[in-house]
Amino acid sequence: MTPQRTRLLQRLGKPMVFSASLLPLTWLFWLGWSGQWGANPVETLTHFTGDWSLRFLLLTLAVTPLRRLTGWNGWQRFRRMLGLFAFFYVCLHFSVYLIFDHFFDISAIVADIAKRPYITVGFTAFLLLIPLAATSTNGMIKRLGRNWQRLHRLVYVIGILGVLHYLWLVKADISEPLLYAGILAGLLGYRLWWRQTHCG
Ligand code: HEM
Repeated sequence: MTPQRTRLLQRLGKPMVFSASLLPLTWLFWLGWSGQWGANPVETLTHFTGDWSLRFLLLTLAVTPLRRLTGWNGWQRFRRMLGLFAFFYVCLHFSVYLIFDHFFDISAIVADIAKRPYITVGFTAFLLLIPLAATSTNGMIKRLGRNWQRLHRLVYVIGILGVLHYLWLVKADISEPLLYAGILAGLLGYRLWWRQTHCG
């Protein structure tokens, strides 16, 4: 890549990725504005935000393989932002569940988390994402040192739980969750292969 192109990407890359990451939300508002949330808007909101939570999680996990495969370190600049957007969409997803599904009825939510395995798994993934989001600042990276990397390895577990949550909740056609499971397996498999072939 030419130096000018690299400089341009360094300047515009983050604002571009940030704006693109807000497109799903804009699209969701547009669908609502134009009356396209369907007969069951809560279901539409839950599915939409759930899908985008998982997509951003997978995008975050794709950064390191992309960097290694293309040899362009610039991908790394977007990893934190993508991870925070995954957290943002999960927060929206959980808020829909909390507000519109259960109207802040905490005891009903606790019972639901205990009773339905796919909710237990989704909720665990959500809880695990909180410390990752909270320690994503440069200050926390410095303060935690090597422990930061150890903590942030939780993102692999979160990805697995996210896919499991989807696989578990689907009753009939599992082709879509299987597709996400395949992408996740590819991303994690690549990392394992890379570690075995490059790290002593
Ligand atoms: C990392 C965390 C999570 C991810 C990646 C995730 C992802 C998803 C995905 C992909 C779907 C299916 C969307 C579709 O059918 O198109 C979904 C549905 C759903 N999720 Fe999550 N989710 C997470 C956490 C949670 C949490 C914390 C809750 C609530 C406690 C939750 C409750 C639900 C519900 C109620 C549905 C709809 C189930 C149905 O249609 O029967 N999820 N989620």
